[in-house]
Amino acid sequence: MHTTVAVVGGGPAGLLLARLLRLADIDCVVLERRDRAYVEQRQRAGVLEQSTVDALREAGAAERLDAEGLVHSGVELRWDGRSHRIDFPSLTGGRRVWVYAQTEVVKDLIALHRATGTPVHFEAEVRAVEGVDTERPTVRYTHRGQERTLTCDYVVGCDGYHGVARTAVPQGVRRTYERVYPYSWLGVTAEVPPSCDELVYAHSPRGFALHSMRSPEVSRLYLQVPNGTDPAHWSDERIWDELEARFALDGRQLGRGPVTAKAVLPLRSSVTEPMRHGRLFLAGDAAHIVPPTGAKGLNLAVSDAVVLARALVRRRHTGETDLLDAYSDTCLRRVWRAEHFSYFMTTTLHTDPGQSRFDTRLQIAQLDRIAASPHAEAELALNYAGLPLP
Ligand code: APR
Ligand code: PHB
Repeated sequence: MHTTVAVVGGGPAGLLLARLLRLADIDCVVLERRDRAYVEQRQRAGVLEQSTVDALREAGAAERLDAEGLVHSGVELRWDGRSHRIDFPSLTGGRRVWVYAQTEVVKDLIALHRATGTPVHFEAEVRAVEGVDTERPTVRYTHRGQERTLTCDYVVGCDGYHGVARTAVPQGVRRTYERVYPYSWLGVTAEVPPSCDELVYAHSPRGFALHSMRSPEVSRLYLQVPNGTDPAHWSDERIWDELEARFALDGRQLGRGPVTAKAVLPLRSSVTEPMRHGRLFLAGDAAHIVPPTGAKGLNLAVSDAVVLARALVRRRHTGETDLLDAYSDTCLRRVWRAEHFSYFMTTTLHTDPGQSRFDTRLQIAQLDRIAASPHAEAELALNYAGLPLP
């Protein structure tokens, strides 16, 4: 089997890239290790930047997003008994964010691929990516127990943080920059209408908490917990009591309802450079991950896919490889900006296990500054609502 672009991994990066290639009549094959039901149910973040929504619209993949997505014009910060709303449109020249779960984006893209006959093979686990320094790379994979080979002109690793594509960049060339945080998130989905209009990011002496949502009926909530926490030790009652204490709601109560899912997520920052070697390109979590405070992961995956699709289309139409040659540098500039923002949000809002009272006062001074200064506020708003695509 031969194709122009072999896409390893059917998460948002791989599925959107395949969609954009399909619209340009460039043939590609997506190989996804898991089955379709698993990929469509996997719980992930749910905030889409303005430019992500624009990209999905351009890809013809935003019909349900436009009908069901919750448009948000700001976020709320809470700390030290205060709260402050940051208004995005007035600070960013009209940008907003959409709350629409990543898993729904994935469902929408898979439905489009099925409707247009783009080959997305589930239960196809890539074992090795070879020959990326040659004209004709090879992808070896197993599909439902059978060994298979796919040759291609280009191979794109969209296979996430635990993927294999990255290892095809020789060790002497590959550089990884990484930071592990000394805390995790307990993520909770609950059958209860959201108690707040906006997403609320709360700094508290008991640790960080985040109030988000999935729909007008379903809340999504997060609590900072120690690394290695067993979610079984968190009863529904303990979760609600702790959320209420951390959001410090002035005597108001959070609406409580049945918890339908809970899981512990570790926090990590990581970047692998370069994002291109020979005919191999890395996109999304395969090249970089961010801690979820600020919700940049999905948005970075989308911008990589857009930049790479544009470069492959240019190569097809003009024969020019300039955009492909610039791919890694173009993406990494945006990636490092998002890495810094995610790190900033994380370290400003969480309580480190070894944190001193001095460190806490610095965090509060930083949050006070955001509330007091339109410049500091605008810097947060611009990063959160998302910078324009490169
Ligand atoms: N062969 C085929 N597929 C693989 C392999 C492999 N060897 N290894 C991993 N995969 C698949 C995974 O099953 C997954 O479906 O690659 C896909 C990677 O998808 P994501 O992890 O969703 O990564 P990406 O598409 O880059 O999207 C980034 O996902 O992790 C979140 O917060 C992150 O929102 C961000 C987004
Ligand atoms: C979510 O809704 O899952 C979510 C929202 C904002 C974040 C992280 C996760 O920063």
